[in-house]
Amino acid sequence: MKKIGILYGKENSFPPALVERINAMNTPGISAEAVYISKVIQADPTDYTVIIDRISQDVPFYRAYLKNAALSGTAVINNPFWWSADEKFFNNALSEKIGVQVPKTVLFPSNHRPPDTSELSFRNLAFPLDYEAIFEYVGFPAFFKPFSGGGWKSVYKVYNRNDFFNAWNETGELVMMLQENIEFEEYFRCYYVGGRVHIMPYEPRNPFHERYLKDKTTEKSLLKKVEAVVHKLNEHLGYDFNTVEVAVRDGELYPIDFCNPAPDADEFSVGKDNFEWILQNAAEYAIERAQNHKAGEINLTWGKFITGAVNFFQQPTAPPAPKKVKLPVATKKKQEEKKKEPVKKKEDSFSDHLTAAQKKIIANAKKGEKDNLKQINGIGAVLEKKLNEIGIKTIKQVSKFDKAMLNKVVEAIGYSAERAANENWIKQAKELVKNKK
Ligand SMILES: Nc1ncnc2c1ncn2[C@@H]1O[C@H](COP(=O)(O)OP(=O)(O)O)[C@@H](O)[C@H]1O
Ligand SMILES: [Mg+2]
Repeated sequence: MKKIGILYGKENSFPPALVERINAMNTPGISAEAVYISKVIQADPTDYTVIIDRISQDVPFYRAYLKNAALSGTAVINNPFWWSADEKFFNNALSEKIGVQVPKTVLFPSNHRPPDTSELSFRNLAFPLDYEAIFEYVGFPAFFKPFSGGGWKSVYKVYNRNDFFNAWNETGELVMMLQENIEFEEYFRCYYVGGRVHIMPYEPRNPFHERYLKDKTTEKSLLKKVEAVVHKLNEHLGYDFNTVEVAVRDGELYPIDFCNPAPDADEFSVGKDNFEWILQNAAEYAIERAQNHKAGEINLTWGKFITGAVNFFQQPTAPPAPKKVKLPVATKKKQEEKKKEPVKKKEDSFSDHLTAAQKKIIANAKKGEKDNLKQINGIGAVLEKKLNEIGIKTIKQVSKFDKAMLNKVVEAIGYSAERAANENWIKQAKELVKNKK
């Protein structure tokens, strides 16, 4: 029996309802329960195939427990390693890099020094900071909020530099960021669960219980744009479960808050219909992860940022240039003669190893045809170049691979077959081809 565990804290509505929903689905071989921990021993596997984590942001002990569980193959939703590494300021910086417009944002050190640090610990920091440049870049009014956190805690709207310094004085040891104010005409809060998106019109300026707008209609084209941004951000960050808040100003989208890996899913605050969506989709996704679980492997989601970075750094570096050594005259002569011999034409060794059917896949790309293979999660710029060099230039070609072909290809480009299979290159390519149609 594969067990799905829910790890949670003060929440009362979502976790028990999720356990009930998963069990009510009566999926053969799968059951759900609240996670039960009586001891945590290094490298010990847990009983759980999948764990949905709703609390480790507040309990470091749980975060360590989840990393240990992941090491033995538990599929943890969300990846505890990535969650530990991420925060809102990095979110924004990455967004800019992947071409998603976000409000201008600047990071601030905490107003109070962290415990056990002294002035010396901050000797690399200019004092005062370059406030003029910062205020000019962000402008006023602005939002001043923690670089990591949630629940609107310590979120300030500041209208001038005085306001800013007063707010900063209240924030103690919190690392903060100052962010351009987006005066929005529309605002959306969007659930993201393993590639499924649910968009909820939201008015943050309303009282708490009236923020989710039930009867609001939104233009379809705008919803499509919001959905695309939600997909793009989560695919790059690597979250399975998240919410993305998007403000719309003059028709342009500005994601505001998209680092919510244990998002509010309380029935009272999100409302009945949204609660039903999250319950059903979280249940389906958890079951999917249990069914796709691979024993003996790491079953975590890694976003395009991490997989891209790892691929990049994994490439073998160029071998060091040979040292110049003084050779005896006779040897030198021999070498020079050798140099004069006609150079043998380099064989295309990759296609030599292919069957006729596999050669057909290579021939499938028309001359000059070339897709962005980086759309496949796991393929970065360097791997793409190598794939192109052996004749793989289109997503369609990848979609036609079978396991044997994939193995030959990854061997030729110096990549791990296990990882390519784990990253589901073929399945991803098939889906991309399907979506293109
Ligand atoms: N840059 C901004 N422009 C406009 N409104 C903002 C901005 N940043 C935050 N807000 C408002 O403040 C609220 C709380 O900020 P948010 O970044 O979502 O923090 P939290 O993670 O605590 O929810 C948002 O829902 C939004 O209404
Ligand atoms: Mg928020």
